[in-house]
Amino acid sequence: MSATARPLKARQSPPLKGTASVPGDKSISHRALILGALALGETRISGLLEAEDVLNTAKAMRAFGARPERVGPGAWKVSGTGVGGWAEPGDVLDFGNSGTGSRLVMGAMATTPISAVFTGDGSLRKRPMGRVLEPLTLFGAEYEARSGGLMPITLKGAGQPICVDHKVGVASAQVKSAMLLAALNAPGRSHISQGSLTRDHTERMLTAFGADLSVEALPDGGEVISLMGEAELKAVTVEVPRDPSSAAFAIVAGLIVPGSEIRLPGILLNPRRTGLIDTLLEMGADIVVSNERESGGEKIGDLLVRGSALKGVEVPPARAPAMIDEYPILAVASAFAEGRTVMRGLEELRVKESDRLAAIIAGLRAGGVTVGELEDGLIVDGRGGEVPGGGHVATHLDHRIAMAFLVMGLGARDPMSVDDVTMISTSFPEFELLMTALGAKFEPVTED
Ligand code: S3P
Repeated sequence: MSATARPLKARQSPPLKGTASVPGDKSISHRALILGALALGETRISGLLEAEDVLNTAKAMRAFGARPERVGPGAWKVSGTGVGGWAEPGDVLDFGNSGTGSRLVMGAMATTPISAVFTGDGSLRKRPMGRVLEPLTLFGAEYEARSGGLMPITLKGAGQPICVDHKVGVASAQVKSAMLLAALNAPGRSHISQGSLTRDHTERMLTAFGADLSVEALPDGGEVISLMGEAELKAVTVEVPRDPSSAAFAIVAGLIVPGSEIRLPGILLNPRRTGLIDTLLEMGADIVVSNERESGGEKIGDLLVRGSALKGVEVPPARAPAMIDEYPILAVASAFAEGRTVMRGLEELRVKESDRLAAIIAGLRAGGVTVGELEDGLIVDGRGGEVPGGGHVATHLDHRIAMAFLVMGLGARDPMSVDDVTMISTSFPEFELLMTALGAKFEPVTED
């Protein structure tokens, strides 16, 4: 907890009602700024998430010589330099809390002959960067990191990059994306494969910007992406859909507070992001998806969520990449369900903004829920709607832990409090306001 931490308490709330217009998708927002900065011409973006993580990426783009500029709420234009045209930043790049921003930018500069120093906040400086930096050396990049591959790091882009054929060893869209962005400036065709189907926003957006990219399914269930280097990206218009990972908190709040009815318009429904909705439907959630349509090369739709009696399920481990950020809030939903929910294949949760497995388990126990820890997952014994609550949760600079346990407090018998909410602004600055407008009861934590 930092010196300026702001603790908050959430208490049992009346039925939540209304429309929740959640902000733009974080993953797509980072990519729109980065590809805009690598393209020739002026990229126009609407619906950009104006949260700290994304604003730090915009700042970095400026440091590399591109010109991102805000022209209205969520409306930005970016004048790019062209692939290979980035200049060396004059100062250290501070990415704050953002693994996505920092790792994607490492890839995007790794094949340009410039150096940059990357750092971040106390959470980001604990997260492994070797998973990105090691494969980037295949292109000819070099780096120095603190022991364990930790930030601050210095990355020296390749003077004479070469194309690569590489299988990404971790189920990470960030690593895959970093490799694709690096391949953009390496002569020849690179082949990047992965055993699991992680989010594909980079591939979709690269294609929209004019890159020569193709994807082929592999017999093991994975895929290989081929990308021609020395690409000429051309500025386009990007519409950023609303973030399903932010919507997740309002969705689960609507399910666990009896009598609720919440509408969520224009939510990104890319099938590699809808694992939570699929799981909640299996748990018996009353979620109606309507008006499915396309926006900016992505599928979107409107959701209607009503208070529901949930039941426990076994979540297929293969679904993890499609809901990797949603396990904290799924764990909360499963605490309110009747019966046991088992989640496995969650090794990656150990290296998120916090050790999320440990934080989820501690938070559920603080709220009086019985939970078993597995090496790669957890088992939650649902309370059938009657969650005791009454606990205090350590957030470890993790926005999704803070939001998940505040939502738990909205449905529990006794209030739940979290030690800090300031970091929620890294991804969802409007969270408190938006939830309060639906009827959520939040209050400051006072010293007794
Ligand atoms: C993201 C990928 C995921 C996710 C993160 C955003 C992205 O990380 O947790 O919030 O935009 O590519 P990993 O790819 O490392 O699992």
